[in-house]
Amino acid sequence: MTSSRVAQAYRRGSLWQKGRGERLIELAGVRRGELVLDLGCGTGGLTQQLAELVGPDGRVVGVDPDEARIALARHTAGAPNLEFHVGAAETLGEVALDRPFDLVLSNFVFHWIRDKRAVLGLMRGLIHPAGRILVQCVSSLPVLIGELSRLADPSGEKILRDFAFEDAAAIAHHVEGAGLQLSRLEEQQGTHVYPTLDALLTWWKATTHDRFDPRAIEPAALSRFAEQHGDGGAFHVRETFCWFEARLAPAHAWGRGG
Ligand SMILES: C[S@@+](CC[C@H](N)C(=O)[O-])C[C@H]1O[C@@H](n2cnc3c(N)ncnc32)[C@H](O)[C@@H]1O
Repeated sequence: MTSSRVAQAYRRGSLWQKGRGERLIELAGVRRGELVLDLGCGTGGLTQQLAELVGPDGRVVGVDPDEARIALARHTAGAPNLEFHVGAAETLGEVALDRPFDLVLSNFVFHWIRDKRAVLGLMRGLIHPAGRILVQCVSSLPVLIGELSRLADPSGEKILRDFAFEDAAAIAHHVEGAGLQLSRLEEQQGTHVYPTLDALLTWWKATTHDRFDPRAIEPAALSRFAEQHGDGGAFHVRETFCWFEARLAPAHAWGRGG
């Protein structure tokens, strides 16, 4: 868990991710009056946008295991149709949630989830027979982040082991294995630019919940990294990410009584 200071640094450093989340919301076609779950909502920026879209007759629930991020989300959220809970995807059944949801959305969370099929199964149990699941996540470790993390021995290696990257084909397999039907799937490349080395280090430290420790890097190794990868002082993180939409497979939709 992280402190409030780290949660705020995370919010400032993750604007690119919020932009991609806004695109995911567009793809989800959110309608007024819907009940929506934002799984792994972080500091709640997208959750608030969802609350505006569903309007006063709808409701949005944000869930995240990081208590400091949920505290910041609650502190900033003003809408009466918005609520936040501390909880993890793997133990969603333990969070008191109204159901069924029209939409379960999760932005940049799945690459932390080891048993994606099990979590997809839990999500399946939360949606309405005509409901939908929209997920966006990183497919593989960005090379620059791998190199940077490995310089901070041993904290960096440990962080990398905690990720559970899988490409679009593997994810499609899990979706079907969880009794869901894939309606859309797209893999894309993207680059986000950090204007300084400090901005890159601060973001990576915050996004890893303060576990990456730049002080563990030898100054000479950090200078070499900066010389090798700095482009006019800026750092370009190139990544492959994917998003998909899934719905109940027909047999499951029938089984739930239509
Ligand atoms: C990169 S942030 C994305 C936050 C938010 N969805 C957004 O787009 O702004 C990933 C979030 O996933 C949460 N997370 C990590 N592991 C999780 C898990 N097992 N279940 C649910 N959320 C998790 C983290 O606490 C973090 O807030």
